[in-house]
Amino acid sequence: MDKKKTMFSGIQPSGELTLGSYIGAIKNWVSMIEDYDAYYCIVDLHAITVRQEPAALRRRILEQLAQYIACGLDPEKVTLFIQSHVSAHAELAWVLNCYTMFGELSRMTQFKDKSASHADNINGGLFTYPSLMAADILLYQADLVPVGEDQKQHVELCRDIAIRFNNAHGETFKVPEAFIPKVGARIMSLSEPTNKMSKSDKDPSGSVHLLEKPEDIMRKFKRAITDSDTSADCVRFSPSEKPGVSNLIQIYSCASGKSISDIENEFAGRGYGDLKMTVGNAVVETLRPIREETERLLKDKAYLEEVYKMGAKKAEYAAGKTLGKVYRKLGFVSR
Ligand code: TYM
Repeated sequence: MDKKKTMFSGIQPSGELTLGSYIGAIKNWVSMIEDYDAYYCIVDLHAITVRQEPAALRRRILEQLAQYIACGLDPEKVTLFIQSHVSAHAELAWVLNCYTMFGELSRMTQFKDKSASHADNINGGLFTYPSLMAADILLYQADLVPVGEDQKQHVELCRDIAIRFNNAHGETFKVPEAFIPKVGARIMSLSEPTNKMSKSDKDPSGSVHLLEKPEDIMRKFKRAITDSDTSADCVRFSPSEKPGVSNLIQIYSCASGKSISDIENEFAGRGYGDLKMTVGNAVVETLRPIREETERLLKDKAYLEEVYKMGAKKAEYAAGKTLGKVYRKLGFVSR
């Protein structure tokens, strides 16, 4: 049998996981686990590029691991681990920093956005964030990196770094491809539908968290921003003209498995009140088993510890092989 291809992805434990992280990333990770040798990471080193409260960070890391499992990432089938447990990530990131250009890092949209929102803390880690992300991916020789639209630029830079290193030192890294879903790659805020739904959004009404109670989820959907159109075909998918409505249609499509055109037909002649209730209910039912299973897992700290220790061991082995190869190619003397 052919060796399976490798998949790598990660999420920062910088806030509560949202419906955006679920639809844009985790849901697709789950759908592909049978076909890939998969590594899913909780990227705590990335999270500290913005100040974190230590106790809250520790709580969120474990909560995120429980949520990965509750979403369907079976630790017997995939490798789930915490980035700081595998020191090769920080080591390779340093090497790749030396193969990443100042100009490239300066062009990253996420760096520009985060520098604007954290103007008092534009630290070196925030700037070199993409080299650490490239290290994450390249250590595992990943073929595929499933992410939402906002991470596409970082995966492209990772490819450029891999190609640059390979050209200088001979074939060392697999050049990865991004996998970006056709629907759901950019879930927008419910209160400001021209902005992305984000873990770190200060306005709680815009984002839905995976662990939120059904009544709170319904309240947010009922208040979701739409527009003033009252025509018979007001439930229409057009992100530029109708960002709020298109976002609700997109969320409903991902939660129900129905196509966008089926949803437009289903709502022909119906208004936004109906749409909001239907989408809210579909999201509540999608998230209910995830929340219940997460709550159950969080009571079993010993099991979670077993999972992340086993994950770190497997990840360390694979990452160590690549790092050793890189050090040899660079001319370092082996230990
Ligand atoms: P992060 O933590 O911001 O987001 C995690 C994943 O969720 C996706 N996502 C969304 N997708 C659709 N709509 C949204 N509103 C939405 N919000 C978040 C993101 O695109 C991402 O796939 N730099 C990465 C983490 C990372 C990583 C990696 C990813 C570190 N190393 C290696 C892949 C491979 C980040 O900040 O994602």
